[in-house]
Amino acid sequence: MKRIAVIPGDGIGNEVMEAAMLILEKLDLPFTFEYYDAGDGALERYGKALPEETLEACRRSDAVLFGAAGETAADVIVRLRQELNTFANIRPAKAIKGIRCLYPGLDIVVVRENTECLYRGFEFEFDGVAEAVRVITRRASERIAKYAFELAKRERRKKVTALHKANVMKKTCGLFREVCRDVASEYPDIEFNDYYIDAACMYLVMDPFRFDVIVTTNMFGDIVSDLAAGLVGGLGLAPSANVGEKNAIFEPVHGAAFDIAGRGIANPTAMILTACMMLRHFGYLDEARKIEEAVERVIESGKTTPDLGGNLKTMEFANEVALLLD
Ligand code: NAI
Ligand code: MG
Repeated sequence: MKRIAVIPGDGIGNEVMEAAMLILEKLDLPFTFEYYDAGDGALERYGKALPEETLEACRRSDAVLFGAAGETAADVIVRLRQELNTFANIRPAKAIKGIRCLYPGLDIVVVRENTECLYRGFEFEFDGVAEAVRVITRRASERIAKYAFELAKRERRKKVTALHKANVMKKTCGLFREVCRDVASEYPDIEFNDYYIDAACMYLVMDPFRFDVIVTTNMFGDIVSDLAAGLVGGLGLAPSANVGEKNAIFEPVHGAAFDIAGRGIANPTAMILTACMMLRHFGYLDEARKIEEAVERVIESGKTTPDLGGNLKTMEFANEVALLLD
């Protein structure tokens, strides 16, 4: 029996989680789902965005399924990733068949370092001066670079590209680039190159097919994964997995989307595909494939939520997917 800690969180996190759970519950797999509180709502209710009970439950769980946090995201999901040492954040940007998007056929993966960089939260303010400390270590850089190359090998991908800004941040990005180049030399069958992050953003918009696997530091990874999602239809479709040696957290790339929350119109696809990443993690490859195909078929038939030009509600879309699983 796998213990899954489910944290719907804030805003559309609740709406897309309900949709994903409808699908997961249909499968009758040996999972127990236990619900926990975290986020802006938890802060209001208990005075803590990530209550101790939730953190402990996440540590004990075989996986965490997370919706989204709001303004407390740094104290909830960024902290959870660090506490559980899920050092690799895998964010595929794959154009689903039938989607009208900027780049049909695109299939790239962003591998984001998840434990350090400016997101360590070492920030200080005194007398009108605010400072942040950026932490980049050889150990974490090596670990994430190896993860990216192993992923490329496993998924038969041809190329790994490291993104950095080593011309300006000579020490931190310099170290990251050096380590990526060293690791690349251990994988002669996989092509490797690196770009400065600013130029890479232009290439991503104008010619994304030059990328296959992207490996980068925490904050750049956060930014380019939203950019990559935009190339293939938007945040409503972008899943992600945070994996470490012991724990794993599965969450969509998007946040609480307060601009559309409470109306039942969020696209649950990102959350459903996130659940599929969890199923794959536990070896349920056929089940994951079946759900992904069902999602593709519903979208191909033109039944979509408003972000993709359709008029289905969140749960209507989920029900369409569920019908194909019977
Ligand atoms: P966001 O990712 O929530 O939304 C960005 C844009 O994408 C919005 O226009 C939203 O409507 C749209 N969008 C996102 N997911 C969608 C979906 N499933 N279906 C249809 N449209 C979707 O980022 P934003 O607006 O910058 O932040 C909102 C709140 O979420 C903030 O409080 C922020 O701190 C938090 N946040 C939390 C994250 C997390 O928990 N992992 C990640 C990003 C933001
Ligand atoms: Mg983000």
